[in-house]
Amino acid sequence: MSKYTQDKNYIYYENSNIPINKLDIRDVSILEEKEQELLLKGYQFFHQTLSENTNFDEQYFQLLHRKTFEELYDFAGEYRTINISKGYSPFCQVRFLNQTSNKIFSELKKDNFLKDYSDKPKELFAQKISYYMCELIAFHPFPELNGRITRLFFDMIATFNGFEYIDYQNTLETNDDENEFIKASINCLAGKESTMFKIVLDGLKKSE
Ligand SMILES: Nc1ncnc2c1ncn2[C@@H]1O[C@H](COP(=O)(O)OP(=O)(O)OP(=O)(O)O)[C@@H](O)[C@H]1O
Ligand SMILES: [Mg+2]
Repeated sequence: MSKYTQDKNYIYYENSNIPINKLDIRDVSILEEKEQELLLKGYQFFHQTLSENTNFDEQYFQLLHRKTFEELYDFAGEYRTINISKGYSPFCQVRFLNQTSNKIFSELKKDNFLKDYSDKPKELFAQKISYYMCELIAFHPFPELNGRITRLFFDMIATFNGFEYIDYQNTLETNDDENEFIKASINCLAGKESTMFKIVLDGLKKSE
């Protein structure tokens, strides 16, 4: 059974959860290793290139996905063209992707891309991050790797403000549908941000 409920397994090898990839890797654990390696490289690259001029806008969000995973996937940086859901949660419908991204990123721009939180109370920063995290989780614009890119996005915002990468501790631990991050995501889609807020607040720590 496919991990996603969808019309067509358009990015996966037939009868599998494995996204069609440029290296033609068909083994889940080898693919996960490769993705992990690319994600680490992505973290390094975007950390190094972070500057005062970095704006955490839609272009940047897509660039995180594209640059990190283009070695592996044709869909890197591209938004999905079919509707998908996980569990009972339907993500943003394809026909609303544009208007939803406009809404999220124009709001983020009004918040100066969360670039002014280095001297503010951590609670306020955690509130903002968890609000936008929930929005981006419901948006879920890519065919795959939404969770990792969304976390990378906020890790760069945290870094910009003098914080360490958000420590999700054991909330991501299992790969099944029961980990705390997923429960918090389900709550996000149900309009309840408090679970995600707690995870983010616990995970935020100022850099030494
Ligand atoms: N049942 C669900 N309801 C709502 N959101 C969900 C559900 N299951 C997963 N999610 C969200 O979708 C994300 C996973 O999406 P996707 O598979 O595109 O990203 P990933 O990077 O491959 O996965 P992960 O975040 O698990 O590393 C999770 O991080 C979570 O935020
Ligand atoms: Mg996935």
